[in-house]
Amino acid sequence: KPSQPDYDLTQPITARSGLKQGLANYGDPHFSLFLRKVFIKALGYSEEALSRPIIGIINTYSAFNPCHANVPQLIEAAKRGVQLNGGLAIEFPTISIHESFSSPTSMYLRNLMSMDTEEMIKAQPLDACIMIGGCDKTVPAQIMGGISANKPVLPLITGPMMPGSYRGQRLGACTDCRNNWAAFRAGEIDIEDISSLNEELAPTAGTCGVMGTASTMACITAALGMMPLAGATAAAVSSARLRIAEQTGANAVAVAAAQRTPQQILTLESFHNAIVVLQAIGGSTNAVVHLLAIVNRHPDLAGKVTLQTFDDIGRDVPLLVDLKPSGDNYMTDFHNAGGMLALLHTLRPLLQTSAMTITGQTLAQVLDTTPFRPFDFSTQIIRPLTNPLHPSSSLVVLHGNLAPNGAVMKASASKYTHLLTHRGPAVVFENSADLAARIDSPDLDVTRDSVLVLKGIGPIGNPGMPEAGLIPIPRKLAEQGVKDMLRLSDGRMSGTAGGSIVLHISPESVLPGSVLGIVRDGDVVVCDVAARRLEVLLSEEEIAERLREKEEAPVVVERRRKRGYRGLYEREVNQAEEGADFGFLTAKGLS
Ligand code: FES
Ligand code: MG
Repeated sequence: KPSQPDYDLTQPITARSGLKQGLANYGDPHFSLFLRKVFIKALGYSEEALSRPIIGIINTYSAFNPCHANVPQLIEAAKRGVQLNGGLAIEFPTISIHESFSSPTSMYLRNLMSMDTEEMIKAQPLDACIMIGGCDKTVPAQIMGGISANKPVLPLITGPMMPGSYRGQRLGACTDCRNNWAAFRAGEIDIEDISSLNEELAPTAGTCGVMGTASTMACITAALGMMPLAGATAAAVSSARLRIAEQTGANAVAVAAAQRTPQQILTLESFHNAIVVLQAIGGSTNAVVHLLAIVNRHPDLAGKVTLQTFDDIGRDVPLLVDLKPSGDNYMTDFHNAGGMLALLHTLRPLLQTSAMTITGQTLAQVLDTTPFRPFDFSTQIIRPLTNPLHPSSSLVVLHGNLAPNGAVMKASASKYTHLLTHRGPAVVFENSADLAARIDSPDLDVTRDSVLVLKGIGPIGNPGMPEAGLIPIPRKLAEQGVKDMLRLSDGRMSGTAGGSIVLHISPESVLPGSVLGIVRDGDVVVCDVAARRLEVLLSEEEIAERLREKEEAPVVVERRRKRGYRGLYEREVNQAEEGADFGFLTAKGLS
């Protein structure tokens, strides 16, 4: 029995694992251990159970979160994996964020969830921690927190939902939510169709079934080497997903024994691979913000991956995965085509395969020990390098006087490519309320060549940088059949959305020096994706004069007086090109 030596007052407590971690909290380490055992035994654990490595499992089940509806089953399977391999699994909750039930935005809560995750991992005596997440902001929040906590952490993704069906057409949240809603606005489908569709767009538990932010972050987590490759794509409701959970439990015991932490595993090579995958899957623009936030949590890597890195890597990477919104299919198709294993084999010449993975193997070893032979269906969904959907640069980074610190565009999601090289007069909306009030007005002075500009939806301007960047086509133009226009904002766009949309313009419009903030109706905007340019045709003098006028507005002072998390958020959030994290949470915030 291991219990006797624990209480031997003549012996120091040396082991740092299990309940013996961080024992200074009651001054006397023997008493601290004794007290912990008193309370953990109230839950019925034996000395034998408590002598095992303790594997925490973060439970993000919430009845408000359908993307996490399978978390209880995943916990059960993960526990089985832990316990079959000699560990003791102990679950605990953190907050859970669902995209649609997180007012004002889920992004506003991402940093809060990362703090919750980091502090609970640090606080509790666990040797490794399985982090179960899935919905858009939860996985980045957990990885950010996990890197900062720097204990061994293992992401376990809830997985994508199955596609639905309506009148013989497959449907998936939420690209098809948007397509069908746009068709309804344009009068192409009626109220009965749109109501019936509403029942089918999210037909099972799991995350959005297209290459939205959740799927993108799942693929990126696998590309970073932090979880089994199939963990990115297996459906939430599949038995494969439960086996991945069991495998994650087994991995957790091994990772705990090796004390393999995220700061050890993640290197510049890992981030290179993540960005290659992001470009090849036509992933969500949100992932750019999340990856920057993640890398900036790493003490050795902070500042070494920038917006420019995404653009530079993208120039060599073709879009290969044919999923909505850039292509036509669903996550289940990607999984059935071989998923991340097939994709990484295809991308192998572009990857840095010396990167380490969670199991201690390099990526090269993972690929060498799990070969993949492409078949017809697989090459339809995951194109070979010689037959891409888009030759390169699915995601591009633009600079210019309108975005001195950068802006992001998913060029591959623009179906009307003439808009990628476009100049037109701005039609400016000062904020979301202004947009809502005027976008459908018959009097709006707008043509199909206008450039729609929405201000006030940046990280500070509308806390959490809402996904309002997909500015709707003004109704009078939609009714004439206009499907796409060049649209700009300092906000984000759902990963499930498409169109010619420039996002994350920095500095955001509410900041004193923001040029976006001083654009007016009729100013000519020039977007040239090939040259990576985004400009407003104003003289430097005119810009300086307008900025001076703007600086006299009191809005900046006002926002810094708020209480609570909102006040913290507005005071501390950094800009999109830094990850929209809180400055004090970043690795640079340490110095
Ligand atoms: Fe959760 Fe889309 S709403 S992933
Ligand atoms: Mg989303």
